[in-house]
Amino acid sequence: MRLLFIGDIVGRSGRAAVAQQVPRLRARWGLDFVIINGENAAGGFGLTEAIFEEFLQAGVDAVTLGNHAFDQREALTFIERQPRLVRPANYPPGTPGRGATIVENSKGARLLIVNLLGRIFMDALDDPFAALDRELTAYSLGSGCHAVVVDIHAEATSEKWALGHFADGRASLVVGTHTHVPSADHRILPGGTGFVTDVGMTGDYDSVIGMEKDEPLRRFTRRIPSGRFEPALGPATLCGVAVEISPRGLAKSISPVRIGGLLNGAVPSFWE
Ligand SMILES: [Fe+2]
Ligand SMILES: [Fe+2]
Repeated sequence: MRLLFIGDIVGRSGRAAVAQQVPRLRARWGLDFVIINGENAAGGFGLTEAIFEEFLQAGVDAVTLGNHAFDQREALTFIERQPRLVRPANYPPGTPGRGATIVENSKGARLLIVNLLGRIFMDALDDPFAALDRELTAYSLGSGCHAVVVDIHAEATSEKWALGHFADGRASLVVGTHTHVPSADHRILPGGTGFVTDVGMTGDYDSVIGMEKDEPLRRFTRRIPSGRFEPALGPATLCGVAVEISPRGLAKSISPVRIGGLLNGAVPSFWE
């Protein structure tokens, strides 16, 4: 099974990369599933239903979120009617939407997707480890699903590594999102779970983590907000992680994917 996870889509530039690249990569690599993090897709903050539908049209199977999940207030309602949209599972009970979902492809392969929010240097939600344990108890590899992807949306590298080890052997891939910077530590953990601390954003890297530079610089130097954060509009680098998954649901190969924009390119040698 071939899976591509693409990191935080930032604004119009990131959306253009999805529209251009996802159909092409699906065909070129024979992808079974494409999952993206969409928390910054609408002007850098949250996700609208129209944008979510555009992602599905481009061939995306499911969209995960993060700390910006509900920045667009319409997400509080449309998330209820979109089973392919997942917000962090460790929001308090009663939060609209779902923290995990199963998508099935045309070959009958079933993929469980779990989204979690870290607690270090972020608004502390419920325990992400306990939330993940609950989801992996309800659906385990080989019983209810063929593969499991966990998006740990977190600031702290330590928390992401700990969660990777916590899930090792029970997930096909634990992928970090949120920092908008790709880390170089993609690997397969001892129990067979593919892992990367952060997949990076899909946006313009001539920016401050996807945002046009002027306002972040003003705030860092003068400490007084003087405008809005706006997404940078230069060409995006699509940043993702490609994973070949065994019949048992564990990772056989993992590779970074970087296409377009300013970063050095990378594609999975095992599919090219
Ligand atoms: Fe993000
Ligand atoms: Fe985030």
